[in-house]
Amino acid sequence: MIKVLGISGSLRRGSYNSALLRAATRLMPPEATLEIASIRGIPLYDYDVEAQGIPPTVTQLKEAIARADGVLLVTPEYNNSIPGVLKNAIDWLARPPADVKRVFAGRPFALIGASAGNWGTALSQAAWLPVLRTLGTQPWFGGRIQVARAATVFDEAGNLKDSGLEEQLKQFLAGYVSFVRRQTASSA
Ligand SMILES: Cc1cc2nc3c(=O)[nH]c(=O)nc-3n(C[C@H](O)[C@H](O)[C@H](O)COP(=O)(O)O)c2cc1C
Repeated sequence: MIKVLGISGSLRRGSYNSALLRAATRLMPPEATLEIASIRGIPLYDYDVEAQGIPPTVTQLKEAIARADGVLLVTPEYNNSIPGVLKNAIDWLARPPADVKRVFAGRPFALIGASAGNWGTALSQAAWLPVLRTLGTQPWFGGRIQVARAATVFDEAGNLKDSGLEEQLKQFLAGYVSFVRRQTASSA
């Protein structure tokens, strides 16, 4: 069974990105699971805080990533780029540098995202690329999910109501999971 960890980059209760991640959990192929992890409670990065020890919320998330075969990042777009809260979380996860290999290197990552605007996180997803490269991840580029005008594809309760997007997401997840399976097999 392939284990994927999904992380939404929004803390908002009614988040479209968290709704997209929840939709993904039920659209995974049968040979894979998608567990949702949260960045809630991760403090602002501060070296003085790090010097006192890595915060427990960071350690828990690092261990959850280390146990997973792959990571699905679900990113909002703020000012045409990465939202600070998610970047802050990833920066903490990359500390101390000696752990970067264990947590990130060679791990298959995929990116999806939803935004209220017309371009569906295209610029935010592009802004993540140097970060994923720096950390040595294996990003999967075989598909794209950039949900534009998110208010029109989710209902009031945050359920995905667009059947076209649902099918696209299902195909995306199937492609990503077969990539994860290939990567996992080749590194075994
Ligand atoms: C500070 C800030 C900047 C934003 N910048 C963009 C943007 O550049 N492009 C865009 O499509 N939406 C932008 N938005 C709107 C977000 O797409 C919208 O708030 C969305 O709901 C955020 O994702 P969430 O629902 O998962 O929290 C911005 C929102 C905030 C709060």
